[in-house]
Amino acid sequence: MDQLVTLHDKHFKVFISEQEIAETVNRMATNIKTDLGERQPFFLVVLSGAVVFAADLIRAFARPCELDFVKASSYDGTSSKGSVDLEFRWKQNLEGKAVIIVEDIVETGNTITRLYAELQKAGAASIRVASFLFKKDRYHQAHPIDYYGLSIGNEFVVGYGLDYNGLGRELKQLYVLA
Ligand code: IMP
Ligand code: MG
Repeated sequence: MDQLVTLHDKHFKVFISEQEIAETVNRMATNIKTDLGERQPFFLVVLSGAVVFAADLIRAFARPCELDFVKASSYDGTSSKGSVDLEFRWKQNLEGKAVIIVEDIVETGNTITRLYAELQKAGAASIRVASFLFKKDRYHQAHPIDYYGLSIGNEFVVGYGLDYNGLGRELKQLYVLA
């Protein structure tokens, strides 16, 4: 598998292997199972980046669950633009559901903070967050990130669903700016 990739004008090198990704996702699924017990989660997947992680997470979870999507965008190139647009939202009724927001990465927390407010309005019984990556030092919100796979620094990463201006989502490993 390629150790270096070029997307648009930038070069990226391997950061996290496929095997470490798989182990991380399995661990997260196990933690969710333990916490929820008999309760059935409603996974709310934040498009587009979380779609690859979500596909792996629900299969690792391997128990009955529900699934719907919301499309949020807060990024322009390699930096957060601060505001969060909800381009479309779920259609199912979330009242009384144990909702788990599924994210590829949480950075400032602007995206999940916006979603928390919307999910409270929608009457969710509980709201948790499962994010594959967490840029901990950049996060200054009150809500806990209930489940995160790996904590990373302030680097820009692509692959495993994450993109740089639309490219790189299909990469099986996670890459960082070279
Ligand atoms: P937040 O709203 O600042 O927490 O940002 C979350 C969103 O920013 C994520 O869902 C990603 O779409 C995007 N994002 C943050 N960091 C990165 C990165 O390193 N690579 C690609 N996208 C990122
Ligand atoms: Mg995202």
